[in-house]
Amino acid sequence: MTAAQAIATREDAADKAREKTLLSPRFYTTDFKAMDALDVSSIRAEWDTMMAEYEGDNNHDHFQRDAGFADEVAANFSQVSPELRAEFLDFLVSSLTSEFSGCILYNEIQKNIENPDIKALMRFMARDESRHAGFINQSLKDFGLGIDLGDLKRTKHYTFFKPKYIFYATYLSEKIGYARYITIFRQLERHPDKRFHPIFRWFERWCNDEFRHGESFALLMRAQPHLLRGANLLWVRFFLLAVYATMYVRDHTRPMLKQAMGLDATRYDYEVFRITNEISQQVFPVSLDIDHPGFRAGMERLFALQLELNAARQQGGVMGALRQGWCAVRGVATFARIYLLPVKRHALPEQVRLAPAW
Ligand SMILES: [Fe+2]
Ligand SMILES: [Fe+2]
Repeated sequence: MTAAQAIATREDAADKAREKTLLSPRFYTTDFKAMDALDVSSIRAEWDTMMAEYEGDNNHDHFQRDAGFADEVAANFSQVSPELRAEFLDFLVSSLTSEFSGCILYNEIQKNIENPDIKALMRFMARDESRHAGFINQSLKDFGLGIDLGDLKRTKHYTFFKPKYIFYATYLSEKIGYARYITIFRQLERHPDKRFHPIFRWFERWCNDEFRHGESFALLMRAQPHLLRGANLLWVRFFLLAVYATMYVRDHTRPMLKQAMGLDATRYDYEVFRITNEISQQVFPVSLDIDHPGFRAGMERLFALQLELNAARQQGGVMGALRQGWCAVRGVATFARIYLLPVKRHALPEQVRLAPAW
């Protein structure tokens, strides 16, 4: 069963982007005053190196289509099944929503602060995310499904997160975004016959942007060491699990996308978790034990509950509502059980920065 509901019109695409479920990408806003007060002097050398990279802008000409793009869409994508097409369109809309979410957040921060370090960083990251969102939107436009980003910005719900949560959540979404894109890119590099749409050819240089965005948040957190110790580690664990579980459930509701690339959704997700666990040790002194049998069983259970929830939603009425409530209760209990599993602990490295070497 696939939960990807067929996106057939521009209105469907816009509704999908605006969707407000637990699994849909969100838009965020935060405390700009607190962002303005950040101080990067303790990590100045690494910060300046990173800012020089942004300045150099090695991807300034990357997000343009080449001559072969349209031919490849015509030759390869016209062959795919309606189910794969539906999952791919769902993937494009949710990826566009995530990219644009970063664009809006970074742009709002830079507009509302004076701090020159943070302002410059946010401006560079908004620049990158705007290119990413625009590039995906071009592919949606090929199908007549382009999203009006101005309208989405005005009409989608915003979640307020205080800066601490923005750091944990955004760091992880940037790094997991890198891990997702590079794993797909490497797979299709090995099996070019499985590249059913040309957009995947752009993923390598694209995900280096996401990697660098993650580096920026890593440095910002290392500049505030209290975020990475004591009771705050309970939040780190919470965000790690929330991000992993959301990805697992979302990917498993569109399994064909991975199958078409010759990947199995479970194997793909664990590869992405493994890479994200490795990277995140630059900043988090704890990581989830993804090989623990309780972790694996818990992920499967969350996915099964999501399928039950989808069925209850379709059923509607009082019984449907009761079943939805029951699914939610068991979902929370399952999440809590995984949360309480033992975690792995590490010392933080002296040097924060990593290279995108996966
Ligand atoms: Fe991006
Ligand atoms: Fe990013």
